[in-house]
Amino acid sequence: MRRAEDMPQGWVGSSPVRLDGLDKVLGRARYLDDLTFPGQLWGRTVRSTVAHARIVRLERDPAFDWSGLTFVTAADIPGENVVQLIESDQPCLARDVVRHCHEPLALIAGPDRERLEEALAHVLVEYEPLPAVFDPLASTQIFKHYAYEREAGRIDEAFVRAARVVEGRYRVGHQEQLYIEPNAVCAVPRPDGGLSLHGSMQCPFYVHRALQRLLGLDDDRLAVIQTVTGGGFGGKEDYPSMIAGHAALLARKSGRPVKIVYGRAEDIAATTKRHPAVVDHRTAVAADGTLLGGEIRIVLDGGAYCTLSPVVLSRGAIHAPGAYRWPCCRVDARAVATNTPPNGAFRGFGAPQTLFAIEMHIEKIARELGLDPVEVRRRNALREGDVTATGQRLRESVSALAALDAVAARAGPLERPPRGARKRRGRGFSLVWHGAGFTGSGEVKLKARAGVELTPNGCRVLAASTEIGQGTVTVFSQMVADALGVPLDAVEVAVPDTSRVPDSGPTVASRTCMVVGGTLAGAARALERRLSAFAAESFGGDPSRVACRGGVFREGARVLAPYSVVAGRHLAEHGPLRIVEQYSHPPGIVWDDDEFRGDAYPVYAWAATAVDVEVDLDSYETRILRAVTASDVGKAIHPVLCAGQIEGGTVQALGWALLEELRHRDGRVLNDRLQTYLIPTALDAPPIETILIENGYRHGPYGAKGVGELPMDGPAPAVAAAILDATGALVPELPITPDRLMAALGKDPA
Ligand code: MOS
Repeated sequence: MRRAEDMPQGWVGSSPVRLDGLDKVLGRARYLDDLTFPGQLWGRTVRSTVAHARIVRLERDPAFDWSGLTFVTAADIPGENVVQLIESDQPCLARDVVRHCHEPLALIAGPDRERLEEALAHVLVEYEPLPAVFDPLASTQIFKHYAYEREAGRIDEAFVRAARVVEGRYRVGHQEQLYIEPNAVCAVPRPDGGLSLHGSMQCPFYVHRALQRLLGLDDDRLAVIQTVTGGGFGGKEDYPSMIAGHAALLARKSGRPVKIVYGRAEDIAATTKRHPAVVDHRTAVAADGTLLGGEIRIVLDGGAYCTLSPVVLSRGAIHAPGAYRWPCCRVDARAVATNTPPNGAFRGFGAPQTLFAIEMHIEKIARELGLDPVEVRRRNALREGDVTATGQRLRESVSALAALDAVAARAGPLERPPRGARKRRGRGFSLVWHGAGFTGSGEVKLKARAGVELTPNGCRVLAASTEIGQGTVTVFSQMVADALGVPLDAVEVAVPDTSRVPDSGPTVASRTCMVVGGTLAGAARALERRLSAFAAESFGGDPSRVACRGGVFREGARVLAPYSVVAGRHLAEHGPLRIVEQYSHPPGIVWDDDEFRGDAYPVYAWAATAVDVEVDLDSYETRILRAVTASDVGKAIHPVLCAGQIEGGTVQALGWALLEELRHRDGRVLNDRLQTYLIPTALDAPPIETILIENGYRHGPYGAKGVGELPMDGPAPAVAAAILDATGALVPELPITPDRLMAALGKDPA
């Protein structure tokens, strides 16, 4: 059959200037804080100052002048006092009990930001303290537990047969997403009693459902509209539902638009972080480094409420065996409650935590057996036809070895200083995989819908998928332009507004390009076929041979009519034309939720990383000299943006490896600013060499899989491995601060 996709025009695979770029660099892009709504008030949040307590009293100081200010507590909530997500445990405003510091208790709105600041200090709260838990290993409250195994009957025998049994415990800490633009929304009451909510977010329909439940509003009276968003990294997956609820409650009570824009300190203290994790490995290995079997135990610290912990945990548990073959293994994974602010989505979503553990464990295995860690990886790497720990046969697009080989070849020899030098150099490798799309039956349940509508010159993309800096608007336009056969500028992308676009699902899980992009390309092909048939009928031609290329309908070499003529005539005769399609997995992808078995993802992306470090044995500081990555993304729709994702994710991962450490005292976040929560700057970023491998996925659009999260997985373990290579010390905990390195080298940091 003739398929438009088989006749590419070349937008896919090229790197046009990103379509949102000019507005952003020229300062024309209007972020939420740039927008002013008529009669708008500002909103602020009263937060708990203790980690776990009963609220005995919550009232306004009668000595303060409250005129002109709107005050909202849980009693003002018309619907359910719940932030809609997986469980219904998190209140929008605490009512009787607080479970973490910085938890929202009440809201104030007013026209003057300085008076609001004063008013915050005049809300009187009295607590009766309750015992608080901060150590996840001491928690007795389990949000979610998964256990799965492969060939469990052979595990005992594997340990008997093993040349060596290697055990290790690995830990990682919190990480803040640190998007450039803090959380920000504005709720605007409508004359019909409804509400429009504008804001910085990843998932407009999550916010939509949360507001419906909180306010008891029906669909028709609610619109959630994404504004230009300065980064998300997972941090704007669930929290916007909370802040949107707050603004909506204030708007409803005051009858005025209410804008809430977090400052950096409030955003760092109160919003979600990457889950800290403790991962235990016990592994049976043969003398040549072959993995014979093992047990993996994972504990994720969920913080005070469940939020996304069950799905972060399932991704973490599935990625925990790493990109390796396991003849048999057992994985036990729990997410538990502590009295710290809830943890949630962060690029990688559970996988960076468990991949750090397996990669360090591979290093440990290699050390104990006296083998080259790259050889141990190569020996055990998953290959096409292999079966994963959840019982998934990998049918295609498996690039573990290709990635490892590409990185090793590019890295070349490492120059080392002479023996005895106070600055040591080392190189570490890592190998990771990352499932594209929602985990397990997620996509099947979601039934994402996306489409295109005919415009006089091309089409408009209709999807709820958000541009958060990663390039959604550009890559969607490229794929649709090629599928429809029109120039790039003939494609517009509708603003994600829940009253106007179909629910293509959240912008998460490395799913936007593969799942939503694939659905859009399908809808654009359907539009092209529809218009080709119409052109053939209108201008004479064989419909099966007519196609649109370069904005012109042709039959072979014969020109029928320009796109605009065909589209204009179609619009005049038939009115608006909208084609919306629904994503479904390719045939044969089956997941069993109850057994936690089967095809966890339709396909995986693969990456290998090499990092060179220099460790100063006087200051115990680590400097990253160079990072080399090879990533199989299936197809780079836009190679420059794709490499940008990899570079950005790599720097974010290097920060997690060496610098980023959130400190708490009694559950209160201590380092809530950029002076104290350090992330890598441009000066800290090493030269990064990015190799793109395009091992196409048959069912991905143009072969594409996913790239959003992959680059967060590999660099941190590669840094730790490089430090091990340089110093002989395996530091099993991130971040690798000078103190931790000293301790691992047997020196007393004091
Ligand atoms: Mo993401 S961490 O799946 O927004």
